[in-house]
Amino acid sequence: MFENDIEYTLISEEKIKELVSGLCERINRDFFGKETILLIILKGSLIFAADLMRGLDIPITIDFMQASSYGMGSKTSGEIKIKKDMDNDPVDKHIIIVEDIIDSGRTLSLLRENLENRGAASVSICALLSKPDRREVEVRAEYVGTNIPDEFVVGYGLDFAERYRNLPYIGVLKPIVYKSEDE
Ligand code: IMP
Ligand code: MG
Repeated sequence: MFENDIEYTLISEEKIKELVSGLCERINRDFFGKETILLIILKGSLIFAADLMRGLDIPITIDFMQASSYGMGSKTSGEIKIKKDMDNDPVDKHIIIVEDIIDSGRTLSLLRENLENRGAASVSICALLSKPDRREVEVRAEYVGTNIPDEFVVGYGLDFAERYRNLPYIGVLKPIVYKSEDE
């Protein structure tokens, strides 16, 4: 179904499993016995978070937030909107933000600052992917699955124009797909 739109597979299902279990190991060690909120950033982190939480052996609850620095297309708008706030009061909570990918860094730096200002006990960031070449704002991420090159990727929750989230692996989208929508 997607094969015509995907240039190549960047991260296979098997490799994703390895990355996720590596992240779980580190978080389990660092947060041993600690009551923690997994703050899942909608929508792209949905699938990653579902796999990550099942590998965690610590007392977690989950919460959701939706923020975006992107419109429908593949280019950043440079603006952040908090569309949905978390239900919990962050005061005195240990929070791990679960994000699909760090691109410019704007979304996460704003979220971290927001939660710290609201009195969270600690804020950590767990992102499956990071594109260091695209960083515009420095953001400290404690847990990163892997760095990737500056390519637009989809699948495993990541979208282009809300599509491709159900692809089970992470693939590079053919530029023709997003170029045709930009015009
Ligand atoms: P940032 O604020 O620029 O770091 O944007 C992060 C958000 O942009 C992610 O949560 C994604 O929703 C989106 N994003 C960045 N790069 C990609 C990509 O290659 N594919 C799909 N979404 C992306
Ligand atoms: Mg997105």
